[in-house]
Amino acid sequence: MKHPSLVQQTRFEPHDMAPPALRRAVLDGLLARPRHLPSAYLYDARGSALFEQICTLPEYYPTRTELAILQTHAAAMAARIGSRAVLVEPGSGAGVKTALLLAQLHEPAAYVPVEISPSALEVTVQAMAARFPQLPIHPQQADFTQAFTLPPALGHAGGAGERVVFFFPGSTIGNFDPQQAQALLARWRLLGGPNAGLLIGIDLRKDVAVLQAAYDDAQGVTAAFNRNLLVRINREFGADFVPDAFDHLARYDAEHGRIEMHLQSREAQVAYIVGHALRFDAGETIHTENSYKYTLSGFAALAEQAGWQQDAHWTDPLQRFGVLAMRAA
Ligand code: AVJ
Repeated sequence: MKHPSLVQQTRFEPHDMAPPALRRAVLDGLLARPRHLPSAYLYDARGSALFEQICTLPEYYPTRTELAILQTHAAAMAARIGSRAVLVEPGSGAGVKTALLLAQLHEPAAYVPVEISPSALEVTVQAMAARFPQLPIHPQQADFTQAFTLPPALGHAGGAGERVVFFFPGSTIGNFDPQQAQALLARWRLLGGPNAGLLIGIDLRKDVAVLQAAYDDAQGVTAAFNRNLLVRINREFGADFVPDAFDHLARYDAEHGRIEMHLQSREAQVAYIVGHALRFDAGETIHTENSYKYTLSGFAALAEQAGWQQDAHWTDPLQRFGVLAMRAA
């Protein structure tokens, strides 16, 4: 039986066009020097499908490494989280990792997926309802990078022994620069209240060749994921980019501890977008994504600045990826 839809439809359906603020950021970034695009714009339907494909690539270690950490330590993580947790997941995904955790939690009070795309939110709700028929699910259609609210009567002030725990796997936090990441974690700390918890996945600093390969795979899936930004801009703005006239670049910036993705113009060219002529020099780049890598202590220090204190952490044997359990300080 189909779980009744709990997701409020918005005016962005059915086309899932980018909301106005994101559209504005796309245009502003293309006109800026150096040019840049918001990495959130990577995830239209095709971009999300390409990312799922990236997750299965031999070079892309983060997904399977984090999954292995969760598989090995889910019971210990659940013990840290405790009973009657309201599990809040900003940017709900395919649900595999979440299901792993929920299966181990003691009497979870509710699951709250927070997701901007109504269609993606609906998929998450249906999948989790089928897997956990007893679990109350309270989807929140919202951009988790902005302020969002929790459903009323949930978890606040330790009501009925409940505790708000944010689950943020996938090293998604790495897409934000450290200042933004700290602000995001500080906001969640306030939203979750004095008993708040956080279980977060971070990609660790490592050999540059391993990082490089993960973001520039042999099959070119990451390149297609990157170029899809231009495909999406053509569709949503009526622009005339030639995606294949741009090379996919992935490079590690040791100073910032981040992998950068860029699209690099192969030759001098012009692209038209809503009345603007964008003139690209040969070799000119559009910066499309940052993916920050942390040390365990570096990330714990950042989270501490946001009001969190570390309870425990788990890594894989090669120390490629870390999962940190934190609680409100
Ligand atoms: C989804 C943000 C975790 O940064 O590794 C994958 C996105 N970009 N390949 C990452 C991504 C290029 C990914 N995150």
